Amino acid sequence: MTVPPKRADTPRTPHASRYARTWRAADGTQLCIRAIRRGDIALEARFLSGLSREALYQRVLSSRGLLPGELKRLTRIDFAREVALVGTVGGPSDEQAIGVARYVVSDSGAECEFAIIVADAWQRRGAGRQLLGDLIAAARGAGLRRLVGSTLATNEGMKSLARKLGFSLQPDPRDGTVTLMALEL
Ligand SMILES: CC(C)(COP(=O)(O)OP(=O)(O)OC[C@H]1O[C@@H](n2cnc3c(N)ncnc32)[C@H](O)[C@@H]1OP(=O)(O)O)[C@@H](O)C(=O)NCCC(=O)NCCS
Repeated sequence: MTVPPKRADTPRTPHASRYARTWRAADGTQLCIRAIRRGDIALEARFLSGLSREALYQRVLSSRGLLPGELKRLTRIDFAREVALVGTVGGPSDEQAIGVARYVVSDSGAECEFAIIVADAWQRRGAGRQLLGDLIAAARGAGLRRLVGSTLATNEGMKSLARKLGFSLQPDPRDGTVTLMALEL
């Protein structure tokens, strides 16, 4: 019997390890950026529970809590169709997540949609730019053509970050409270 070759886009750990790197913030704190792993459920749960209501609202555009099974889904990444990067501080015994950026590939396979959130205490310290910059590099590396996202039209922080990273912005024609962001890769 012939064993079918493994699909090149499915190995999780080797593929995921490609995204790991460290970065030093202006105050000297060392941040690790790496792919989210299956074992990160507790890390992600602590991160989400520490977020302000406002930051969460900006991220999911709703005030809903986590849905059943969502935490598992957020940490079981199928790298064939999504990438999720986490920024962490601390060591193996006290690792703490300070931001997460992720994209999911559309059904057509050419485009992907991103979302990002940085913990309140870490905002305006450069982490968002690093995480989204790495996510853009990951999308390019995966051969995707376009990275898109949406944010509240009042979210000046996200809009400014997007502009700085080269996204074009336009109002959502279906909903004036939303701004659409798009980057040709
Ligand atoms: C938007 C967000 C991801 C930015 O992350 P961050 O780590 O604070 O961003 P950075 O420190 O890397 O800032 C990079 C640039 O973004 C812009 N920016 C970030 N926050 C800003 C704010 N509150 N007001 C104005 N500009 C802001 C600035 O241009 C900044 O550059 P500068 O510091 O040189 O002026 C973060 O504020 C966040 O998580 N908000 C809540 C969730 C959210 O809104 N997600 C977006 C929906 S997908």
